[in-house]
Amino acid sequence: MRAWTVLGLETSCDETAAAVVRGAPPGPGAILSDVIFSQLEEHEPYGGVVPEIAARAHVEMLDRLIERALAEANCRLADVDAVAATAGPGLIGGVMVGLVTAKALALAAGKPLVAVNHLEAHGLSARLSEAVTFPFLLLLVSGGHCQLLGVEGVGRFRLYGTTIDDAAGEAFDKTAKLLGLGYPGGPRIEALAAKGNAGRYPLPRPMLGRDGADFSFSGLKTAVRLLTLRQKVDAADLAASFQSAVIDTLADRARAAMAMFRRDFAPAAPALVVAGGVAANRAIRAALEAAAAELGFSTHSPPVRLCTDNAAMVAWAGVERAALGRFDPLDAPARARWPLSP
Ligand code: KG4
Ligand code: ZN
Repeated sequence: MRAWTVLGLETSCDETAAAVVRGAPPGPGAILSDVIFSQLEEHEPYGGVVPEIAARAHVEMLDRLIERALAEANCRLADVDAVAATAGPGLIGGVMVGLVTAKALALAAGKPLVAVNHLEAHGLSARLSEAVTFPFLLLLVSGGHCQLLGVEGVGRFRLYGTTIDDAAGEAFDKTAKLLGLGYPGGPRIEALAAKGNAGRYPLPRPMLGRDGADFSFSGLKTAVRLLTLRQKVDAADLAASFQSAVIDTLADRARAAMAMFRRDFAPAAPALVVAGGVAANRAIRAALEAAAAELGFSTHSPPVRLCTDNAAMVAWAGVERAALGRFDPLDAPARARWPLSP
């Protein structure tokens, strides 16, 4: 199969990013450049991402990041085969900045456009790093999403479970905020949890053992809040207790989905892919790997840098779609909401 060189743009949340990736499905691909500007300092005072501030920062940063991504990849716009950008789901102002920029570049350089679903980009990222073949079971855990999906192919997903309230990353961020750890919470909770006693505070494990593979994290979040209101807590022990509750929930729901996936696809070499920002958590990865091994599944996770938001995964989704001839018209819409499966 011919190799594609794709410029990818990511602006759906608080990272402005541009990357050039070259490759062909099933991967792995070569990341020729991958530049990112994280707007952490802009949002830190507010304890979360402020959409209007994010959109303005994308406008200010994107042009020079694209120039740098092309320069580091040692290529010009004329050398790429397609331009890909996240077209949703996400904060609509930011999505529009990236998508409109990609359209302008595509039009000016006479290149095809790929309008990428950000969730699909996370979902396919393990093929960029290690060529996982279809079908595979995907646990997508990020700040905005928590889903278990069977991935049959590009654009072909079967939903096994989703969160009925908060996403796992959101629970990490809110717990961190309660503990005064700042934003984003995930990495800070993980570091603190490593020093804490996970058995110290008994916290609920919502949905454990329930039929299906849905998640719920709001009860856990509330329990953490009540605990911090009622007593003076040891931050490290609470972080460890919280993380262990999340781990138990994720592992239990993943086990349920693995059974459904096996029934649906009878795969010869069943594989679980863990992707999205929360997949950067080493304790979570290890626990899921152990749960998967018990059920005969291999586990795959992209390197940490490709787990949190980045443009290389968007460029790779562009490669996957380009290889199938699935380009998008220049009036492709920006979408705040864009579920992977109906
Ligand atoms: O995929 P991502 O960068 O953005 C979204 O599309 O949501 O995920 C960001 C989320 C945040 O909630 C962040 O706290 C969480 O991923 N996260 C982590 C870790 N690193 C990032 N959660 C737990 N442990 C981590 N090490
Ligand atoms: Zn993301």
